[in-house]
Amino acid sequence: MGQPDGLAGNESGSTKLRRTAVSGGVAMKPGQFGQLREAFVDFRYRLRRDGAGSLLRLGRKVVEFWNRPQSVSEFDREFDTDTEKNVPLWRLNIDSANRTQGIRYQSLAPILIRNAIEALPADLNNFSFCDLGSGKGRVLMVASEYPFKEVIGVEFSHELHIIANNNLRKYRSRKQARSTVSTLHLDAANYRFPSGNLVIFLFNPFGESVLRSVLANLERALIQEPRAVWIIYFNAVFASVIEESFLFTRVEAAIPAAVFRHEATAI
Ligand SMILES: C[S@@+](CC[C@H](N)C(=O)[O-])C[C@H]1O[C@@H](n2cnc3c(N)ncnc32)[C@H](O)[C@@H]1O
Repeated sequence: MGQPDGLAGNESGSTKLRRTAVSGGVAMKPGQFGQLREAFVDFRYRLRRDGAGSLLRLGRKVVEFWNRPQSVSEFDREFDTDTEKNVPLWRLNIDSANRTQGIRYQSLAPILIRNAIEALPADLNNFSFCDLGSGKGRVLMVASEYPFKEVIGVEFSHELHIIANNNLRKYRSRKQARSTVSTLHLDAANYRFPSGNLVIFLFNPFGESVLRSVLANLERALIQEPRAVWIIYFNAVFASVIEESFLFTRVEAAIPAAVFRHEATAI
């Protein structure tokens, strides 16, 4: 399963989003099919011409590509953290039936996270912030700069959960955090939401059926305890699932994410 890279890294989200065509969570840039076909035809020609030698050369190229140096973002340079490198989930040990629904680890440019939080017309002191599919914790680190009651990350990969904890330790020793952060090693489908108003942050972390389970848990929580909820959903591949819910209204937002609101009324 692929992750459209429309909003990743430090690139401007809206610009790159326009350039990628998204289909079922897999992004192909225009012309990529043609390039792939050309590469295949070229390889077949070389295989006929050079025999096994061309296979060896291809093998070397794949190894070189795999070991190519990864970029270090300004964010990681500044805080000595490890958040930039993408990680496909097949590389990780994930003990969950939902692993095939998960989208690879990839993070957002900090400016997009900050803009999204600052666009909320809410008193953040009265809200807890939950990043579902929190990966290496970049969103949690940025959110901790704001006065939320609590910042919570939920991640089902143990390896990513450990990296997030290490990152948070380094970040908090350098930055004056304003809210407490907790990280949970857990499948988001099994997460029970805490009491009080919520900001739920999603960067296209999982597929439709996990999102449906999360929404069902959220709806139960809202029936038990009426409160205000905002959902910020970047790369909102399954926005229609939330749009179908009678509890949420999609609101106009000046950020490149889908934003949903539930007002604090009894259901
Ligand atoms: C696109 S990354 C987003 C990471 C993080 N929110 C950020 O923006 O920096 C998606 C993350 O969701 C996690 N994930 C996918 N399915 C999950 C699930 N069912 N429960 C918890 N985490 C999940 C993946 O392991 C991955 O780290």
